[in-house]
Amino acid sequence: MRATEEIERAVDVLRAGGLVAFPTETVYGLGADASNPAALRRMYAVKGRPSTHPVIVHLGDPEQLDEFARDVPDDARALALSCWPGPLTVIVLRDPARVCGEATGGLDTVGLRVPDQPLALELLRAFGGAIAAPSANRFGRVSPTSADHVRADLDGDVDLILDGGPCAVGVESTIVDCSGTEPSVLRLGGVPLERVAELLGRPVGVRDAGQMRAPGTLAAHYAPRAQVVVVGHTAVAARASQHLAAGRRVGLLALAARVPDVVPEGLAILKPPGDDAEYARVLYARLREADQLGLDVLLAVPPPTRGLGAAVADRLRRAAAAAAH
Ligand code: TXA
Ligand code: MG
Repeated sequence: MRATEEIERAVDVLRAGGLVAFPTETVYGLGADASNPAALRRMYAVKGRPSTHPVIVHLGDPEQLDEFARDVPDDARALALSCWPGPLTVIVLRDPARVCGEATGGLDTVGLRVPDQPLALELLRAFGGAIAAPSANRFGRVSPTSADHVRADLDGDVDLILDGGPCAVGVESTIVDCSGTEPSVLRLGGVPLERVAELLGRPVGVRDAGQMRAPGTLAAHYAPRAQVVVVGHTAVAARASQHLAAGRRVGLLALAARVPDVVPEGLAILKPPGDDAEYARVLYARLREADQLGLDVLLAVPPPTRGLGAAVADRLRRAAAAAAH
């Protein structure tokens, strides 16, 4: 099928209340018409997500911000205009006529973003309205960064999967809550914290998981079946030996520069990323590989927590916390 025909089909599916999985620069989304309550209920059912958890609403053009939100604060506008299209979500008051409560778990706020992915933009612009889309994985599982990941998780339950190849960023959007008196970051992601602070012209706080209502921020999230253990690179050899001696299958995920020269026999080294951007891009695929290899334990050395490294370290921490449950 030609790309334009596929987009036309996807638009028809959305208009009929169906579900379309589509690529974004961060992860694949499970899309439904944000103004159609029945479509949204089906999306929540397929995702297996509680209907009280809000999803992100995607727009095709930064100019649409005021169409779907009301009383947009200057901070939100500045962030949106500088980062869109791009991996940043702003939480603002929703316009109830354009975004229905089913998309936001009944909250009077909405998370909006314009994704930076050609197929996604084509779809959004052809559709004209807003597309509500959580990541296209079952609730609590690793986010999909390829169409194959979506198929593995949701095949049969979505009406159409648009294949845009692997995601260029690989971790979810940074979420900035602009609905209170002072902006705060709810989720680290594709736009580094340093960049958010620079655009706001002042430091910005990160609200910790306990205070948050965002499920993407639940401690137990982003987990493969293998137990993820976050370790410093100097501890890799000792920890690996310990788990191997107990008869477990053990793997290592670390930046190339942090893979020890000498490693215990039997340790499976997953293809190491060269820098933090590549670490972000391949992270979820590597977590899936850990399961395909049948690993019991994945030792993960986080990158330095600057730039995209902060989001990678955050996801590894959450995956490790999930394994501890
Ligand atoms: O990169 C992304 O953001 C991807 C792609 C598909 O755009 N989407 C994504 O969606 O990660 P999801 O549903 O897996 O995570 C959305 C996060 C959740 O943690 C949700 O609670 C939070 O955004 N969120 C959405 N609307 C919110 C609101 N009104 N208030 C607070 N948190 C909100
Ligand atoms: Mg998600």
